[in-house]
Amino acid sequence: MPNSPQIPSPDPPFRVEPAQRVTRLPPYLFGRINSLLYNKRRAGDDVIDLGMGNPSDPPEEFVVEKLAEAARDPRNHGYSKSNGIINLRREVCGKYFKRFGVRLDPDEEVIVCLGSKEGFSHMCLAMMGPGDTAIVPAPYFPIHVYSVALASGNVIALEVRDSEKFLSNVAYTCEHLYPRPKLLIVNYPHNPSTAVVEQPFYDEVVRLAKRYGFLVISDFAYADVAFDGYKPPSFLASPGAAEVGVEFTTMSKGYNMAGWRVGYCAGNREMIKALATIKGYYDYGMFQAVQIAAIMALRGGDAGMENQAAIYQNRRDALCESLQRIGWPITPPKASMFCWVPIPEPWRSRMSTMDFGMMLLEKGNVAVSPGSGFGPAGEGFLRMSLVENEARLRQAVRQIKQCLREAEGQHESLGI
Ligand SMILES: Cc1ncc(COP(=O)(O)O)c(C=O)c1O
Repeated sequence: MPNSPQIPSPDPPFRVEPAQRVTRLPPYLFGRINSLLYNKRRAGDDVIDLGMGNPSDPPEEFVVEKLAEAARDPRNHGYSKSNGIINLRREVCGKYFKRFGVRLDPDEEVIVCLGSKEGFSHMCLAMMGPGDTAIVPAPYFPIHVYSVALASGNVIALEVRDSEKFLSNVAYTCEHLYPRPKLLIVNYPHNPSTAVVEQPFYDEVVRLAKRYGFLVISDFAYADVAFDGYKPPSFLASPGAAEVGVEFTTMSKGYNMAGWRVGYCAGNREMIKALATIKGYYDYGMFQAVQIAAIMALRGGDAGMENQAAIYQNRRDALCESLQRIGWPITPPKASMFCWVPIPEPWRSRMSTMDFGMMLLEKGNVAVSPGSGFGPAGEGFLRMSLVENEARLRQAVRQIKQCLREAEGQHESLGI
């Protein structure tokens, strides 16, 4: 009998399986609210967006002018240095010395990053690996957790609001966890809780780091946005800090340069060197024209920065006063671009924080960040960004009031 022709078996379905470092990431909890916001905007609704902390004011004119001038210079269009040009690193040192009395070596103790988020996540990649644990403040700014998870490390989240308790929990964790945590992430003024600290807090962080042998990363994103005379302290101003850790600062917030992607990291040489090694492979540095304009901003931008902080302070007052007027209790923050607002009873017991946020968006046309998007410690809170002007913030509270009234089904009561 002639051989029957072989029928090729069909190929198995083609599958794309991302690496475990991607699949083990926690779910992105703002997805629901973001897609409703997107759909509402597409439908033409005027949503007051207090969700993301994306600055809405422009940088100073002289900084934009310098960028344009530097962009016209043909010498600025090649690859730059991955750790940043020396004059920008020197300017960072100048700012640290002027403001905090901290002396830094621009060659070995400072590196420029493509926004502090890039530097922060690559620093975690440089320092953390499988089996390593990082302590992060809770509720957590998502990058603090994702960067450690992407580096295959584990996270322990400790409640941030009471700074003394936070420190005693850090010590307790170090005493009881084996292997001990490798990294402590601190972030004051804190996003989202707006918690702040004074210098002795960092003195104690350094003492604990030396005692238990952990590294420290301070995320100082809101260094420039503080109110009522409060001056956020730098971790690096505590004696011995540069022996145990580094600090990330950004030009996104105080200088309104979020889209420019300019941040920097200063402190411990070994950590900076490890980050420089990773960045040396991954990127060719920031567009040189941007770096030159950033130098001008750091050199001459103090007045603009203080003016911007005053704008946020006025917005904070407008939002807090409006909320208090409708009977909603809130403690005004001392710093950052946010208000961290407890959801009043009985709403807090009636529905989840996410559902409450969805209701404000769906019925009130006000977008906020439900606190649970920052982990379980954020349940019961809303984060409201101060990125809309005072009139819009007051209008947002009027719309929230109306929304709660309608949901309450009565004419006068807000249920608060
Ligand atoms: C706490 C915190 N760290 C870091 C960043 C990221 O800043 P950058 O724009 O420099 O990447 C933000 C931005 O919202 C932030 O809130």
